[in-house]
Amino acid sequence: MRLLLGVTLLVAFHIELIQFVYAENRITNGELAKSGQFPYQVGLNISFGNTSTWCGGTLISHLWIVTAAHCVDKAERATVYLGAINITNKFETGQKRYHVNKSSIIVHENWTISTVANDIALIELPIFIPFTDRVRAAYIPRNLNGSYSSYEQKTAYASGWGRESDKSSSVSATLRFVAMPIMQHSLCKMYWGGALSEKMICMSTNSGKSTCHGDSGGPLVYKDNDTNYLIGITSFGLSMGCEIGFPSIFTRITSYVDWIQQHTS
Ligand SMILES: *[C@@H]1O[C@H](CO)[C@@H](O)[C@H](O)[C@H]1NC(C)=O
Ligand SMILES: *[C@@H]1O[C@H](CO)[C@@H](O)[C@H](O)[C@H]1NC(C)=O
Ligand SMILES: *[C@@H]1O[C@H](CO)[C@@H](O)[C@H](O)[C@H]1NC(C)=O
Ligand SMILES: *[C@@H]1O[C@H](CO)[C@@H](O)[C@H](O)[C@H]1NC(C)=O
Ligand SMILES: *[C@@H]1O[C@H](CO)[C@@H](O)[C@H](O)[C@H]1NC(C)=O
Ligand SMILES: *[C@@H]1O[C@H](CO)[C@@H](O)[C@H](O)[C@H]1NC(C)=O
Repeated sequence: MRLLLGVTLLVAFHIELIQFVYAENRITNGELAKSGQFPYQVGLNISFGNTSTWCGGTLISHLWIVTAAHCVDKAERATVYLGAINITNKFETGQKRYHVNKSSIIVHENWTISTVANDIALIELPIFIPFTDRVRAAYIPRNLNGSYSSYEQKTAYASGWGRESDKSSSVSATLRFVAMPIMQHSLCKMYWGGALSEKMICMSTNSGKSTCHGDSGGPLVYKDNDTNYLIGITSFGLSMGCEIGFPSIFTRITSYVDWIQQHTS
């Protein structure tokens, strides 16, 4: 596999990816997160009838979570984990769990699975969440000065628990993260071709660190001094991408600022 895949091949390839990438997304060779390091990180145990799946999300206010559409589309309910590092320890200090129903989930109206377009959804929490050292919202970038900031070449943090395999719903117990540069869109396009839209943002996975992105739905955050800006939602990638340096793709938050505002105000 070389950089420039034919567009046709890429599309077929891409669709196949959706099957296993959703399941394989995980932080590889990431570092263990410390308590309070990613206070905006949300864990989601999502139920579809009698099956369940694990995803990440991001707290963006006292009431709202952003996640990926592909995680929650057609879900019946979900358990939301806030302030967690070890999700198997329900007595963990600062960890809180909330149950939400289908009626609290808003999937983007133009979410399209075949192209992974508009892979974004919102979850409304049942109560107003007070912020603490371990639970705190990330900011949606708002000062866009007409056109959005691309964040190209900036270092960003992807975090998540990551599933262990396709079939199991078991996840890694503890939160991990990687810090990697945002790839130039034009360069990313050489890998992904027509599968990459302007509403997506790419994270480099090369430099031999064999890092993958975090759990589906989870955060890609740019840290400006002490402020966490949510710039992406983990969407898709190549699971072998870690070895061959294929960039991971995230939903670009700055393309959805208005949509988020409309539905959360
Ligand atoms: C998610 O919830 C189901 C029960 O609805 C449970 O069987 C499963 O272990 C949970 N997954 C995780 C990762 O906690
Ligand atoms: C899951 O639910 C479906 C429909 O309600 C049912 O037919 C199926 O047997 C259930 N599977 C398990 C493993 O419980
Ligand atoms: C996570 O919590 C479980 C349950 O309390 C515990 O058995 C396990 O050792 C913890 N894992 C880590 C890495 O701390
Ligand atoms: C979810 O639905 C169940 C059953 O309809 C209800 O008992 C529960 O209160 C609802 N929870 C929320 C957070 O709305
Ligand atoms: C969804 O797509 C329709 C048709 O292209 C468009 O009119 C509408 O504005 C889109 N909705 C959003 C929220 O982007
Ligand atoms: C956006 O505008 C603000 C003030 O209006 C300015 O401080 C900031 O540097 C501008 N940012 C960019 C990326 O141009």
